[in-house]
Amino acid sequence: MVFDNSRGFAQQLDQHDSLKSFRDRFYIPIAHGKDSIYFNGNSLGLQPKTVQEHVINELENWANYGVEGHFHGRNPWVNYHDAFPKKLAPIVGALPEEIVVMNQLTVNLHLLMISFYRPGEKRYKIICEEKAFPSDQYAIQSQLELHGLNPADALIEVKASKGEHSIKNEDIIAAIKKHGDEVALVIIGGINYYSGQVFDMKAITAAAHEVGAFCGFDLAHAVGNIELKLHDWNVDFACWCSYKYLNSGPGSVGGAFMHQRYIADKSMLRLAGWWGTDKHERFQMKKEFNPIPTAEGWQISNTQVLSMAPHLAALDIFAEAGFEKILEKGRKLSAYLLFILNEINSASSKKIIEIITPQFENEHGCQVSMLVLENGKEIFEFLNKNGVIADWREPNVIRVAPVPLYNTFEEIYQFGEIIKKYLPATTKENINV
Ligand SMILES: Cc1ncc(COP(=O)(O)O)c(C=O)c1O
Repeated sequence: MVFDNSRGFAQQLDQHDSLKSFRDRFYIPIAHGKDSIYFNGNSLGLQPKTVQEHVINELENWANYGVEGHFHGRNPWVNYHDAFPKKLAPIVGALPEEIVVMNQLTVNLHLLMISFYRPGEKRYKIICEEKAFPSDQYAIQSQLELHGLNPADALIEVKASKGEHSIKNEDIIAAIKKHGDEVALVIIGGINYYSGQVFDMKAITAAAHEVGAFCGFDLAHAVGNIELKLHDWNVDFACWCSYKYLNSGPGSVGGAFMHQRYIADKSMLRLAGWWGTDKHERFQMKKEFNPIPTAEGWQISNTQVLSMAPHLAALDIFAEAGFEKILEKGRKLSAYLLFILNEINSASSKKIIEIITPQFENEHGCQVSMLVLENGKEIFEFLNKNGVIADWREPNVIRVAPVPLYNTFEEIYQFGEIIKKYLPATTKENINV
């Protein structure tokens, strides 16, 4: 599509946007007396207006029924989590029985590593991307230590080439091949939180399997943002949070995926708890743990109803909007943002912003990360003063993510104008005037 950097063009895109009515379903934070330009859905998605009703409903059930709320009310709590796998299946590209909603991301990563990281004498190494989100690094290091291994020896971090910001998929695959039968596990962020780079999950999984290793992904920045086909890609396991692109609220409940080939395997080692045991036997208080033969067999504790209520409200909006349409608009929004930033850069006599997110359509999601080469914090604060809620990552990266359910093309145009306002003295146009 040929884009134009003008308000009229952006407004036209908004007029033809089949998802435009969904913005009204969200509370847009106010900045300086008017709607902010909220480009922070990669960090915390906005609150759907239906969330309050969902939470109040459960509070009322608790007030009205007490413990009987497990069996009464619109969504009895004993089965509350049953609603999620079907709703998440199209979003993560999995069978419902491969999905479980529970805990939070890092907790789930630990639980999955208990099952999928079984180091032996020779096969004990873990491969991950350099500068993975710190929580993943800590989880991996502590799992190695749990097995008495030294991260300096057992952890291989694949780096970006010198002067580059993205890690080549080929380099990850080459590292897997190089370490071959020493590799026990490959763990990569489906989208790197810092650069916004999407990794080739299918090819990385195939390479891991070729050397006999398991492969899992942290999908915090991928779920609800890009197309995922976890089942078809043969991914062994994955975990995600629901508070970014899934708009389910701060610290809300996370999710996990295990491939169909493992879910009914009772011999898989896991940290067990009563909520993972056969549903019919749960209240028989038996001594033996008899896991549910689906991903739900990895549950430990009972349902986090008050954190699941916003998740349910948010996923209903995804179903109503249609995930295909969400993806299509997301691609268009990020393409327009990249077009505008590239235009600002090429008009500028001095390059101040370097886009570090890969620009090919299948290598990024909604997020665009900008390395600010000068006065980074000042630009970030300037954006803030002008109503843009973006995200700052040390030492000098601003992350912005226009998201399909509540952002508009006109906001992207406005964002470009605000950046230009910061750079007036340095743009060629102004120099020529
Ligand atoms: C890529 C990534 N992994 C892990 C986490 C940690 O998630 P949690 O605090 O839900 O465990 C985050 C949080 O933002 C993240 O961005």
